[in-house]
Amino acid sequence: MKVFFKTYGCQMNMRDTEIMKGYLLNAGIEVVDNMKDAETVILNTCAVREKSANKAYSLIGRLKKRGIRVGVTGCVAQIKAREFKRRGADFVLGTRALNSIVEAVKGEKDVDVSDHILEIDQSMLNGRDRARHAWVNIISGCDKFCTYCIVPYTRGREISRPIDEIVEEVRALAKTGHNQITFLGQNVDSYGKDLKDGTSLAELFRRVYKIEGIERFWFLTSYPSDLTDELIEVVASHERISRNFHLPPQSGSDRILKLMNRRYTRQEYLDLVARIRKAIPQATIGGDIIVGFPGETDEDFEQTLSLVKAVKFIRLNLAPYSPRPGTVASKFYKDDVPFDVKKRRMAKLSALQHKIMLELNEKLLGTQVEIIVEGRSGTQSYGRTLDNRMVFFEGTIEDGEKVKVKITRSTAGPLYGEISKRVIGIAK
Ligand code: SAH
Ligand code: SF4
Ligand code: F3S
Repeated sequence: MKVFFKTYGCQMNMRDTEIMKGYLLNAGIEVVDNMKDAETVILNTCAVREKSANKAYSLIGRLKKRGIRVGVTGCVAQIKAREFKRRGADFVLGTRALNSIVEAVKGEKDVDVSDHILEIDQSMLNGRDRARHAWVNIISGCDKFCTYCIVPYTRGREISRPIDEIVEEVRALAKTGHNQITFLGQNVDSYGKDLKDGTSLAELFRRVYKIEGIERFWFLTSYPSDLTDELIEVVASHERISRNFHLPPQSGSDRILKLMNRRYTRQEYLDLVARIRKAIPQATIGGDIIVGFPGETDEDFEQTLSLVKAVKFIRLNLAPYSPRPGTVASKFYKDDVPFDVKKRRMAKLSALQHKIMLELNEKLLGTQVEIIVEGRSGTQSYGRTLDNRMVFFEGTIEDGEKVKVKITRSTAGPLYGEISKRVIGIAK
C-alpha cells in the first residue's frame, strides 16, 4: 500500500502531512516520495484562496482516471467533505482528524471531519521531512476572524498544547540530532492564552532555551497587536532565537484594516516595528498583504505602498483578495475592485518590494554572515542567517552545519557568497 502526499498551503499543513506520515509509518505502511510510484495519493489541501482549492479539485479527477485511490485532507477537506466524495475521493479527513489516517488508508473509514485534536500525537519522531530542522506545533486554530479569512472555519478554535509536552518534544528532537526548531501557529502570540495559567510564548522560549543542542529557534506567524513587549525582550536577550518577525500587516490603510477586522491601526503597526527595531537592531520583518480588498481605493492603496516603504520588509507575500465562502467579507462586502486593478496594484507593490530587497541585500556585500545549512541545489549549498536571509555558496556541506560565508553577490532574492569558515562540525 504505497502512499504519496501532495501538500498545499502553509507550514501548518506541511506539519500535518508529517504527522500523518508518522502514523502510517508506525503502522508499517509505506510512504513514497514520487507520485508515480503511489497506489494511494493524499491531497492535503489549502482553502485560503479560491485558486488553492481549485488545484485540488482538478487533480482528483486526473488521479481517479488513472485508477489511483485518492484521499483528501486539510483545510478544504474540513469544509467540503461532501463535495470531495461527490467528485470521487475515496476518503476525506478534516484538519482535526489526522489520527484517523491509518484506518482511512486501509479503507476502514471514509469520512471523518470531527474534532480529535487533543488525541492527536503531535510529538512523533517518525515522519519528519528534515533530519536537522523540526517544525513544532504550539497552538492550533485561530480565534481572530479577520473578515476575509477562512482559517477559523477550517482549523477551529485556538487550542494551545501543554507547555511540558512541547518542552519534552523539543528535548526528544535535540536528542535525535535536530538543531533548529520552528514553533508554528496561525497566531503564535496567542500561545497559552486558553490555558489560563500564565503560559506564553515568552515563557516557552525561556523553558526550551535551556535544552542543549538547539542552535536556533524560529517562530511564526505573529499577530501585530498580540506580540508582547515581553516577547520582544525575550528575543532580544536570547541570541539563539531568530531575529525575524513574520508580522503580516495585510494593509496600510486604517479604513481597510477596520473592514478586515484587524485589531490594530497603521500607526500601532509602525510603532510596534519601531519597538522591535529599537530592542533588536538586527531584526528583520516579514509580512503578507492582501491587494484589492473590497472598497480599496487608490488612496487606501497609496497608504499600503507607503507602509511598505517605511517598514522595508525582508520578505513580502502578496495576494489578490479572493472571496472565501462563509466569511463575513464574502457575505457582506462586494468584491468590487476589478481584477485588472488588483493586478496593476500587485505589480506596483511587487516592483517596490523588489527595489527594497535590492537595497537591503546590497548592504551585505563584502560582509561575513553566519548561516546554518539547510539544503543543496546542484553544486551549491544554502542556508539562512539568524535574521532569515537566504544565502547560497559553492560546495557540499551537510544540513545542520553552521558556516561563515562572505557575501560576494546580492540579488533581490537570495545572497551568494564564498564559504570562509566552518564553525561547528556535525554531531553524528
Ligand atoms: N495567521 C496569519 C495568516 C494566515 S493565512 C495572519 O494573521 O497574518 C496566510 C495569508 O493568506 C494571509 O496573511 C493573507 O495575506 C492571505 N489570505 C487569507 N485570506 C485571504 C483571502 N480571502 N484572499 C486573499 N488572501 C488571503
Ligand atoms: Fe486568518 Fe486572521 Fe486568523 Fe490569520 S489571524 S489565520 S488572517 S483569521
Ligand atoms: Fe494553511 Fe491554507 Fe489551511 S494557509 S491553515 S493550509 S487554509
